[in-house]
Amino acid sequence: MSNAADLTADLDALVADAVERLADASDLDALAALDAELLGKKSAVTAAKKQLGGLDPDDRKVAGQAINAARTSLEAAVAAARERLAAGARAAQYEAERLDLSEKLGEIRRGSLHLNTQARDRLEDVFVGMGFTIAEGPEVETAWYNFEALNIPEWHPARGSFDTIFVNLGEPEEVMLRSHTSPVQIRTMENQEPPIYIVAPGRTFRTDTADATHLPAFNQIEGLVVDRGITLGDLSGTMDEFVRAFFGGEVKTRLRPSYFPFTEPSAEFDISRPDGSWLELGGCGMVHPNVLRNCGIDPEEWQGFAFGFGIDRLAVMRYELDDIRELVNNDVRFLRQF
Ligand code: DAH
Repeated sequence: MSNAADLTADLDALVADAVERLADASDLDALAALDAELLGKKSAVTAAKKQLGGLDPDDRKVAGQAINAARTSLEAAVAAARERLAAGARAAQYEAERLDLSEKLGEIRRGSLHLNTQARDRLEDVFVGMGFTIAEGPEVETAWYNFEALNIPEWHPARGSFDTIFVNLGEPEEVMLRSHTSPVQIRTMENQEPPIYIVAPGRTFRTDTADATHLPAFNQIEGLVVDRGITLGDLSGTMDEFVRAFFGGEVKTRLRPSYFPFTEPSAEFDISRPDGSWLELGGCGMVHPNVLRNCGIDPEEWQGFAFGFGIDRLAVMRYELDDIRELVNNDVRFLRQF
């Protein structure tokens, strides 16, 4: 080595060249090789250090400082290159492992409420708008609620017409799936003082075989009003108003004399179809005095009317279905239309 000044110049050139090569290093393997070449046992800085002994003391001091400065610069440049390559490797890994969660978006289809639910919600809205509240009762009932309290004693022939599904709990024919929503009338009057204005939608069950117009598990909505001075005119007006609100202006209503043990007088309740024919929707009438008495209500002071009709039938009519079984077939091609 000639002198300290030459050595310093050589080291400056070495560092400048090394910085450029480090910037070009394209992966961590290439960097490791450069690291060994620039700073390892056989590197120029290591070799230069070994030659320091041959210099006079002044030159040795200057050369020593130059070697240390060069080593520090090289170490910093290697560390910077390592950081750059590691960050690039991380970014590449993130990109490779990225999950595109938006991929399936185009195939998502919004569901809708079942027709029965839509019809029930709409019925509730109409009656709540007329000042009624919603009541509920159990789907499994005793003979008292399903029959007895409704003025249908055990010997009454009307029991046979309800095609009841009994639950076998050891006591024959005492417990049953409710065959209509009328038991909710009794439960309401037992728990509430008049005046009463309620509707009770819910599931009902009979031994019917499913066909185009019948289902063994179906839905009814019951209505009950108990107040002072209630007349058949109130019943008729309420039915008219409900049908107008539910179907719009075109549908007409008609009451036909009929018989139910729990009402007197009783009527069948029909609505007009577009072709001019009549569709029977359900029954109604003035609450029988025996029913009021069974619930501890004095029929001399309070009068009432009641009605009950099929929600599924209403859905069939409103959506012009050919077959009531469509409501329970769970065919998505049908369900998607509503
Ligand atoms: N519960 C009767 C049925 O399912 C329908 C009915 C008729 C309900 C007259 C009533 C009523 O509230 O007053 O056949």
